[in-house]
Amino acid sequence: MIKAVSPKTISEAAQILRDGGLVGMPTETVYGLAANALDDQAVAKIFEAKGRPSFNPLIIHVENLDMAARYVEVNEWAKALAHSFWPGPLTLILPRREGCGISDLVSAGLETLAVRVPSHPAALSLIRESGLPLAAPSANKSGTLSPTTPAHVAVSLGDKVDFILAGGACSVGLESTVVDLSGLAPLILRPGAICAQELGKALGADVAYDAGDKERPKSPGILLKHYAPNTPLRLNAVDVEEGEALLAFGSIKFMGIKSGGHAKDMPDGYLLNLSENGDLYDAASNLFSMLKSLDEAGAERIAIMSVPSEGIGRAINDRLSRAAEK
Ligand code: TXA
Ligand code: MG
Repeated sequence: MIKAVSPKTISEAAQILRDGGLVGMPTETVYGLAANALDDQAVAKIFEAKGRPSFNPLIIHVENLDMAARYVEVNEWAKALAHSFWPGPLTLILPRREGCGISDLVSAGLETLAVRVPSHPAALSLIRESGLPLAAPSANKSGTLSPTTPAHVAVSLGDKVDFILAGGACSVGLESTVVDLSGLAPLILRPGAICAQELGKALGADVAYDAGDKERPKSPGILLKHYAPNTPLRLNAVDVEEGEALLAFGSIKFMGIKSGGHAKDMPDGYLLNLSENGDLYDAASNLFSMLKSLDEAGAERIAIMSVPSEGIGRAINDRLSRAAEK
């Protein structure tokens, strides 16, 4: 059932969460599949609905830093980053507080817990109205493209979700940056909208990206193949080959078709542009929905133009390279 956000639907959704159900929840990054993080059975339903491996822990969504402090041990780094970026697309990994009540399934047996304060007003209202910490991964089948509209959630999860709160298209369009603050130095486990430079500025120190052991990543969700459409992808394309659709970035003035002709004359539905004027934030917010549309166009392959790796571009390239993994 999809219903537009209103005070009435927020309280309906909150009741479903208190009763142990699953709610498709809008956030500024991607739609989340929310459940009461204190309830083992409700959390188990998330893993079941997504087909998600149970070793992959979930993020809990809370109202503010005070609420986070009920569940995790807050340190000085966490205070500084929360002050600068919450509510917003930043997830902090912190030591789990003993006896905090969060289901062990949420942290998949780890001694740390991921917390975030989303900035979407409907997500904040839902947390407030339910009075619960909400465990929520992206509201899609495990391994597929993350949903940035309520319709994506409905198509991916069908009747496995009890209620979808429709709160428009997600403004950021990519999952939050995940920063581990439980070790000797802050470490970015998953690139996202907030980049290393911004984090470094807030902390007054450089912040590194986890170089990562691909077989046993610190963040178990960082499996190599992820966010994948069904159609194969070809990255860093400088032209279009026979049978390909094109996901462009920036000007396509000089983009040709190998067998002759110009990319701008490609058939409808085969050509989409992440951002004609090369804006990386626009590109991020269009990424998953455009990949989905081109996936449905029936092309043999999707050629993707290169996107610079600066700022949020790093997160875009992270998602693209994992989507292209065979
Ligand atoms: O923007 C987002 O973060 C979205 C919205 C819904 O909030 N959520 C999201 O959740 O992307 P999910 O489950 O798709 O990704 C959570 C990531 C995974 O890579 C997971 O392995 C990692 O966070 N993670 C969760 N708990 C962790 C922990 N204790 N230690 C290390 N990594 C953790
Ligand atoms: Mg996900």
